[in-house]
Amino acid sequence: MIVAPSILSLDYSQMEKQVKELNESNAKWLHFDVMDGHFVPNLTFGPDILKAYRKMTSLLLDVHIMVDDPVFFADVFMDAGAEVITFHIEALNNIEECIQLAQHIRSRGVKAGISIKPKTDLVLIKELLAEIDLVLVMSVEPGFGGQSFIPESLERIQTLKKWINEKNLNVLIEVDGGINQETGKLCKDAGADVLVAGSYVFKNDIKEAVDSLC
Ligand code: DX5
Ligand code: ZN
Repeated sequence: MIVAPSILSLDYSQMEKQVKELNESNAKWLHFDVMDGHFVPNLTFGPDILKAYRKMTSLLLDVHIMVDDPVFFADVFMDAGAEVITFHIEALNNIEECIQLAQHIRSRGVKAGISIKPKTDLVLIKELLAEIDLVLVMSVEPGFGGQSFIPESLERIQTLKKWINEKNLNVLIEVDGGINQETGKLCKDAGADVLVAGSYVFKNDIKEAVDSLC
């Protein structure tokens, strides 16, 4: 299991200490939540913060862009060092635009992910699976850390796993929101490959919390 702590929930009053612990943990990815205050009612980090993280950690930079204009911001954060760019299917107008952006991201040697909100029909993702490296299943409404896991997400993970196996594709399933030891295990059993965890990791002992998700 790949564990991707979300630095949205990092305690910025003890940033140096927590980033050090993160680097010493078994986490493999750093989940970087970008919010523009329009696509979601919250505002977070710009590219300069990602550049700073690039200097502080060797964890893979997994950038989740919750923005109205993913075409513009994908390049902004790839320029800043993103190694995965995951954009929202709801932020573009049609499947063709999603395929175009995924192909552009991949053309820059960056992994392309698509994220889907809890209420969005999963079938929209089916025809995109051949064009992407990762699906990010939102198990909370995007915008804030510390929310409760939506149990219906488990069936969505199972359905995606079935589609990926049927098509014999190599697409990772990442799950994001309300992940702790209990929900993490359920997601793992349902077929998840990557677990994002913010509050569970940064509000507890970082190393122990990460290990409990591996
Ligand atoms: C929410 C973000 C998540 C969030 C997870 O919009 O995409 O990555 O930080 O936080 P927790 O793990 O606290 O639910
Ligand atoms: Zn996220």
